[in-house]
Amino acid sequence: MQTVTQLDPLRRAVDALKGDGPVALVPTMGALHEGHLALVRAAKARAAHVAVSIFVNPRQFGANEDLDKYPRQLAADAALLEAEGVSLLWAPEPTAMYPQGYATNVSVSGVSEGLCGAARPGHFDGVATVVCKLFNQVRPDLSLFGEKDWQQLAVIRQMARDLDLTLPHVDAIIGVPTVRETDGLALSSRNAYLSAEQRAAAAALPRTMRWAAEAIARGAGVELTLREAEVLLLASGFDKIDYVALCDAQSLAPLTVLGGNPARLLVASRIGGTRLIDNMPV
Ligand code: PAF
Repeated sequence: MQTVTQLDPLRRAVDALKGDGPVALVPTMGALHEGHLALVRAAKARAAHVAVSIFVNPRQFGANEDLDKYPRQLAADAALLEAEGVSLLWAPEPTAMYPQGYATNVSVSGVSEGLCGAARPGHFDGVATVVCKLFNQVRPDLSLFGEKDWQQLAVIRQMARDLDLTLPHVDAIIGVPTVRETDGLALSSRNAYLSAEQRAAAAALPRTMRWAAEAIARGAGVELTLREAEVLLLASGFDKIDYVALCDAQSLAPLTVLGGNPARLLVASRIGGTRLIDNMPV
């Protein structure tokens, strides 16, 4: 595996890999876990080479968020990727990504405005900006993202459509199902912040979501079920609910009744200082 930290060597390395066939990009912020490795494995199944980026993107963190304490473990991450047969690791310094004088922002309206967009102003501008740059830097044939960040995936697909960032592969932006612990908690780099007590209580998140998704699918009232889910989460040890919402799975428009189109239940909730998100089909 080749590790590059500057743009010129990155471009040369990608050109060399492209001689063998399609290159898949897995963008990450590091602190890799089985969820990331599932993305790498899904990428390997579809492409000749896998490139992974590790960049803790300052532009997607709010002023009072966890940018400083976000786990950074480049050497351990590189060893994991090497063992998975990744060909290229793109690990730019912040100054290589955002040099002096950098002035451009990518902002996606609509799909990025509710849910996490409302709770974390500016977050999806930061995500769209860095992913747009990563696509231009690596020029992948396809790219893979975790479904755990369902809204992020919708924002990235909208951005790629709107800016004609047409990756050559058919179905080029691929969502990979969430990987879960045995008690159902979705894997996340932020789970590392949880104390043992908070970690045990956090299992209430997928449990409550499954209950709510099944209740709504059986015909229970949407509004009432969502409010009951909030009460259950707060009673299980969560301190604050950012949202518990039923949305159209694609547009993310809020739903008050199940219609003909696929629907998704999405939750963001805080336990201790840690914000956990999850989503499930209904
Ligand atoms: O999902 C993440 O890890 C990040 O939001 C991403 C897509 C790598 C952009 O920084």
